[in-house]
Amino acid sequence: MLDLLQLTGKQRQFVDLSQHQQTVASLRSLCAQAGFDFNFINGFLRSGALDGYVQWQEHSQQTWVLTAKGEEVDGVLPGFPLVERLLQGIGDRATLQAELGTAFSLNYGALRREQAVDLVDGDGEGVVAVLKSSVLGAYQQRQGVFKAIAAGQVLDGSASSSLEWLQQQGYIVSRVETDYSLTVLPALHTLELGDVVTTLTSDLILSGQWRQADLKPYDIHAEVPDVAYGRPTILTQCIQRIRDIFLNMGFDEMSGYMVESAFWNFDALFTPQDHPAREVQDTFYLANPQTLPLPEDAALVQRVRQVHEANYGGQWTEAEASRAILRAHTTTSTARRLHQLQGKDGKYFSIDRVFRNETVDRTHLAEFHQIEGVVVGELLSVRTLMGYLTYFYERLGFKDLKFKPTYNPYTEPSLEVFAYHPPSDRYIEVGNSGLFRQEMLEPLGCGEKSTVAWGLGLERIAMLLYGIEKLSDLIGPDIKL
Ligand code: PHE
Repeated sequence: MLDLLQLTGKQRQFVDLSQHQQTVASLRSLCAQAGFDFNFINGFLRSGALDGYVQWQEHSQQTWVLTAKGEEVDGVLPGFPLVERLLQGIGDRATLQAELGTAFSLNYGALRREQAVDLVDGDGEGVVAVLKSSVLGAYQQRQGVFKAIAAGQVLDGSASSSLEWLQQQGYIVSRVETDYSLTVLPALHTLELGDVVTTLTSDLILSGQWRQADLKPYDIHAEVPDVAYGRPTILTQCIQRIRDIFLNMGFDEMSGYMVESAFWNFDALFTPQDHPAREVQDTFYLANPQTLPLPEDAALVQRVRQVHEANYGGQWTEAEASRAILRAHTTTSTARRLHQLQGKDGKYFSIDRVFRNETVDRTHLAEFHQIEGVVVGELLSVRTLMGYLTYFYERLGFKDLKFKPTYNPYTEPSLEVFAYHPPSDRYIEVGNSGLFRQEMLEPLGCGEKSTVAWGLGLERIAMLLYGIEKLSDLIGPDIKL
């Protein structure tokens, strides 16, 4: 059975055309006339799809095609332009030479070789005399046959002497071609082809006509060309993976601002105003805007001032706290969130970009990403912190962690995190963490709470996961990865 819905557009056209015939003498000619690719229709027939509708008989036939030499002469046999003129009675050499130009000698040579012409004395430069007019006639025929072959026409038997000559001269060669004659059977004549909808339009849907329409089904097994599609970079894939891990651990995602005030980056984090990290060697200060407003919560600013002046002595200035910077860590987002929470419990993470005025080398860039996290609750301890970090890194496949005491102005205790890297048989620093100090939590309104928090390097993780040695392999225009 012919599956009408599965026919391609061309196959339908062919079926449609065949329905209106009784017999087809040459499938090749039919294809040439109707604009079908013969090989495609040949395959359609041989697939058996038309069995019972069309009978076909294979026969081979000899055809002719132009050789390279035949292609070269551009449709005009050498000799023929002279033949045309001689037949018009133009024999004067000077005239012929003027009309044919440099091609004159080529044309003359061609006819001379068959002893059809000769140069005889006459007025001026002489006259081309015709010795054998039969050759001129033969040339006319040869030219006609040659043109027909060039145009791909099928020849009848009458051209045999011209064909022989053209072949001898090397203008054409013969080729044996398979062709088919078809007999169209009654089953095809009575077949209802109908209309098949190949494109479902909004009109069809809105009007409800799709209910009646024969819809062409998708062939999900059809061969399709490979498409070079876009895909996320390694870094984006890592971000997605890490985001999933934290979401599955019940964390909510938070975000902040790349341009921040020193207040949120340093002062709210109990970092003294003369701390070395605040110097221009480490932090990018903005020229425009040079300052940002301090928080509207004046009491917050007041509490921060008090805790700084009480612990570090000297004078805490709003001018220093107002300076606009590119955030140097994402703990700014955490500080803002703690202030919002005002003592409520929660678990938050962010994966965001930070900026530091670092010397750029194979493992350092002036901008990178941090995986920030904070848990606000009761009775959280160093054990809690190590538990969260161990669980997180295990999800990524880092089984072996080490923690090392360190110092941050805003956490106590503080732990650096190292992950074992089998290829180099070393522990590599992957992050920093700790429990926020009272001096930080109290001004933000979370003095009753305990917290664990961390800031981890995203690029470090990506480099370890994908065995990358240079940051420039991970980031930037080189996308071999
Ligand atoms: N902000 C720290 C850094 O940039 C990381 C950190 C976050 C440490 C939270 C402790 C707590 O390295």
